[in-house]
Amino acid sequence: MYAAFRSIGAYVPTKVLTNEELSKMVDTTDEWITKRTGIKERRIAAVNETTSDMAVKAAEKAIERSGIKKEDIDMIVVATISPDYFNMPSTATVVAHKMGLDKVTAFDISAACTGFIYVLSIAKAFIESGMKKNVLIIGAEKMSAITDYTDRGTCILFGDGAGAAVICATEDKSEAITDLHTAADGSLGDFLMTPDGGTGNPHQAELKAEASFIQMKGNETFKIAVRTLTNDVVEILADNNTKASDIKHFIPHQANYRIIKAVGDALKLEKEQVVLTVHKYGNTSGASIPMAMNDLYEEGKLEKGDLMLLDAFGGGLTWGSALLPFAGK
Ligand code: ACO
Repeated sequence: MYAAFRSIGAYVPTKVLTNEELSKMVDTTDEWITKRTGIKERRIAAVNETTSDMAVKAAEKAIERSGIKKEDIDMIVVATISPDYFNMPSTATVVAHKMGLDKVTAFDISAACTGFIYVLSIAKAFIESGMKKNVLIIGAEKMSAITDYTDRGTCILFGDGAGAAVICATEDKSEAITDLHTAADGSLGDFLMTPDGGTGNPHQAELKAEASFIQMKGNETFKIAVRTLTNDVVEILADNNTKASDIKHFIPHQANYRIIKAVGDALKLEKEQVVLTVHKYGNTSGASIPMAMNDLYEEGKLEKGDLMLLDAFGGGLTWGSALLPFAGK
């Protein structure tokens, strides 16, 4: 049995936060943000809108487009670093309940911006081992809830949203996910972290509002992201005897236009091959790849059989890439 990437869906919150508005909140400018990141605006979820609310909306679209019935989903895996509840219940179980799927296997994984590649690898492994048939994978983030809007080094980067995909068992090898790389280096965990609140650094007194805010060594992360991702995508193509020119859509994690450009240039990709949404959504962590893929789909540019290359890098540190054909309609 092989695993096929059957459908894509996403949800984008309506509220827009522009660079102009951010420049009234912290000492920054539209020019600086655009030049250093490529971001012009990002979406912010409503105060009472949870990560699971966004995840459900993305999932409903993905299921509708998958051609399978909702009841046939046998596992839900959510990639998130901004869960509804920090310890339990998992966001995946909340999503399952909201969708009326109370008998499925459901759990979250934490791999920051690489989350979608990790959940894709989990879906592939469960399906190929014969344990599951139709896996709903979701990347959903309310990054605004863990962002410090007084820190200009991070608050200009992040946005909210969700993306989902249905991965199904198939006997048709031409539909199969070709290959996946996932990796981590915990020795660089302090490059990107939410340092307080866990057992590593328990709250000493009352819970502080900023307890779970992101801290980032941006410049160090940037350099290692470019180096690591470039090596990783070159490797996955070589491992699979695939030329960069065979890739129809390169759909990278949307963290920073300069990182995307450096990796794209290293592979000598044409502009038309590279999918970009960073200018309008910012960095939505685990949600960014499926949100970008969904835009491509809704623009009518993603067709059955199109070869896709995905890559991502994030907190942990974690990184990964995936080579796969789109197997939807
Ligand atoms: N506006 C104006 N100036 C700023 C801002 C801002 N928003 N932020 C920082 N600066 C200043 C700094 O203080 C510094 O000033 P100094 O030279 O006087 O000290 C100067 O700009 C340069 O700062 P750098 O941090 O070196 O800027 P850099 O070019 O590296 O850009 C950025 C910063 C955009 C954060 C970049 O490093 C980046 O994109 N890093 C990677 C982020 C990433 O990919 N993270 C992984 C995924 S996220 C996840 O997993 C959740």
